[in-house]
Amino acid sequence: MTSAPVSNPLAAGLEGERHSPPLALVIFGASGDLTARKILPALERLSRRRALDPNVTIVGVARTHMSDEEFRKLALDAVDGAGPRWRELVSKARYVSGEYGHPDTFDKLKQVLDDLDSNAGTGGNRLFYLATIPEVFSTVAETLGNHGLAEPKSGSFARLVVEKPFGRDLQSAQELDRAIHKYFGESQVYRIDHYMGKETVQNLLALRFANAIFEPIWNRHYVDNIQVTVAESIGVEHRGGFYETAGALRDIVQNHVMQVLALILMEPPSTVEAEGIRDEKVKALRSMEIPTRQEVLERVVRGQYDAGWVAGNQVAGYRDEDGVAADSQTETFVAMRLAVDNWRWAGVPVFVRTGKYLPARFTEVVLQFQKVPHLPFLGKESRASQMGTNALVLRIQPDDGITLRFTAKVPGQAFRLRTVSMDFSYGGAFLEETPEAYERLLLDAMVGDATLFIRSDEVVQAWKVMEPVMAAFAEGAVPLSRYKAGSWGPQESDRLPARSGRSWGAG
Ligand code: BG6
Repeated sequence: MTSAPVSNPLAAGLEGERHSPPLALVIFGASGDLTARKILPALERLSRRRALDPNVTIVGVARTHMSDEEFRKLALDAVDGAGPRWRELVSKARYVSGEYGHPDTFDKLKQVLDDLDSNAGTGGNRLFYLATIPEVFSTVAETLGNHGLAEPKSGSFARLVVEKPFGRDLQSAQELDRAIHKYFGESQVYRIDHYMGKETVQNLLALRFANAIFEPIWNRHYVDNIQVTVAESIGVEHRGGFYETAGALRDIVQNHVMQVLALILMEPPSTVEAEGIRDEKVKALRSMEIPTRQEVLERVVRGQYDAGWVAGNQVAGYRDEDGVAADSQTETFVAMRLAVDNWRWAGVPVFVRTGKYLPARFTEVVLQFQKVPHLPFLGKESRASQMGTNALVLRIQPDDGITLRFTAKVPGQAFRLRTVSMDFSYGGAFLEETPEAYERLLLDAMVGDATLFIRSDEVVQAWKVMEPVMAAFAEGAVPLSRYKAGSWGPQESDRLPARSGRSWGAG
């Protein structure tokens, strides 16, 4: 359905040279938080880098009453130190106010879009961005469709960018898909998971498939266990109301963690085109075991933060946050052991953990390798204590880079061993500026490159793995452990890998 040229930088290696075609970028939820915090600043950076065609025009849509002028001011205020290109882009912006399900809103929008096609050179190209509350995603998609806006004019495109969450369980995700697919074909739909826009997440592909040395050991014969940690040092901030409906499992694990895992577990794609990579990701997700109820009870830990100290500041407990019930059962921490049932990974445990108000903010993947089978040069006792394991740490943020942990001899007469690190840091190795995730993904959607967006079958599969866990949480079958804000979560979390003689981190 799209006819604009597709440029895939993974295929072409041409990141710096990509430009958007002329288009109208229609942001639903234009007066909201996401627009001001992420979308507008990302557009500003794209305009500064001259990645946008001069005829790109922003159209804001939201319930808040605003004139074009007021919306332009909002767009200017959303970025620090707006330069001339941003001012120029914003000066043409339009705004439509109205209810999301009301035909009048879409009639007005249609008029604005026709006007832009005739007078502002947008060429019939439309990128609709759903940045509203999730409850109205289906309504907006359907109303766009029944106003004929999902059907591109000949020679142009109409695409729909959808923010997470993609449903709140398998059933609602499938309902959302049905609503979207009434009028939009899957190739028109761009589901955003901002983790896929992070440079270091994309580098997982380069690390695995552009090097000869990792692939031979990237399997059950060498890897003892895989870990993904998404640690946050912030609490739920002003999003208590939203977080109550989500919890750590839905907010981070079902999407960000599963996406990172898909890249770690997948087989080499036969092409680096969008479908080649997405086919392999979905195959990897399909080989993740859907835990039985008994496995959930044994292998999942959930927790909620109490008051504590984080980075020198005293912070309130989760139940005292605004918008949170006094007896809330929502988890702000989750840790679990997952399994993969295929030739490459059978028997290799996958440990996952994430939480709010942990002592540090970092996201990393650790591959712990198997222990050496025998150390010929040491006595029996020192062998046990000094036998380090090798680990490969993929640091996604902050301080993005890669660390290889291995054993070396301590200088001196005695034969003593210690684990040392070999470090690669992005900041040290490259001078290029790293594009922010939204900047990257917005340009991808504009040029029609779906590689880093989540396909419908990936969403479904990720929910399938999470369903038994969510069911057990809903019934209160997995105890909600307490942890102090500023600690590493409930103690049960450490016991999870310890039960099989393992521990979190690179050892
Ligand atoms: C969002 C979650 O998707 O990701 C937030 O809704 C979370 O709760 C955020 O804080 C983390 O993103 P990042 O890029 O800071 O790791």
